[in-house]
Amino acid sequence: MARTALVTGGSRGIGAAISHALKDAGYTVAATYAGNDEAAAKFTEETGIKTYKWNVADYDECTAGIAAVEADLGPIDVLVNNAGITRDAPFHKMTKDQWDQVIGTNLTGVFNMTHPIWPGMRERKFGRVIIISSINGQKGQFAQVNYAASKAGDLGIVKSLAQEGARFGITANAICPGYIATDMVMAVPEKVRESIIAQIPTGRLGEPEEIARCVVFLASDDAGFINGSTISANGGQFFV
Ligand code: CAA
Repeated sequence: MARTALVTGGSRGIGAAISHALKDAGYTVAATYAGNDEAAAKFTEETGIKTYKWNVADYDECTAGIAAVEADLGPIDVLVNNAGITRDAPFHKMTKDQWDQVIGTNLTGVFNMTHPIWPGMRERKFGRVIIISSINGQKGQFAQVNYAASKAGDLGIVKSLAQEGARFGITANAICPGYIATDMVMAVPEKVRESIIAQIPTGRLGEPEEIARCVVFLASDDAGFINGSTISANGGQFFV
């Protein structure tokens, strides 16, 4: 029977590419989204992938949403924590609300999504937890104290879950995308974006599909010995 994968923020950007790629690889896929009903409806129409609306920053919404997905599609074998937001500002201008929003979605959201799914993975002795972190969680970034902290925190989650899940056949890994051609990166002022591209040895932004292929590999049985790892996919912009 096909395994079931749940992708948060799975109807747009990198998440949409991940949903597509997992479906192409034979998974039954569900995608969550937070707000853009129109994009989600279009995505479902084009791909046949079911979409579910909830806020990953809210634990109760996650619990209820996950139960609905599992009732529709069966137990979740692969969880891709992809949902993420930016609220960029230099630190002296960053508000508490900007901090809370980014930590709530990018870091607490990973807890909220993984915590209700984890016991079932332990019982079934199989699971794949994949977190989409960021190059900026590895190196920090001007105007992203909140985002860099959340994405660095995600790496701590992965390394800890890897140790807890290993004996239950669960792996937890992270991917750190560099700058990928998505709405999030396109929202960066053009001059800043050009200066970023100049720092990428490959000489271009990444494509969402280049991240999706990493996810498909980490989700597979072939990747069973890879646990607690971070794959950097950034065109050579930063080495850990
Ligand atoms: N390094 C050093 N200095 C910088 C800088 C940088 N990267 N960016 C801006 N500055 C400087 C400016 O030149 C300016 O200096 P002066 O005051 O001397 O002119 C100062 O910092 C602050 O400028 P502003 O007061 O104009 O700042 P602002 O409040 O208008 O904020 C900004 C502007 C939010 C920083 C905007 O420039 C921006 O969005 N920058 C991009 C940040 C970024 O790279 N975000 C990544 C988004 S993509 C992503 O997150 C996906 C991923 O995972 C990779």
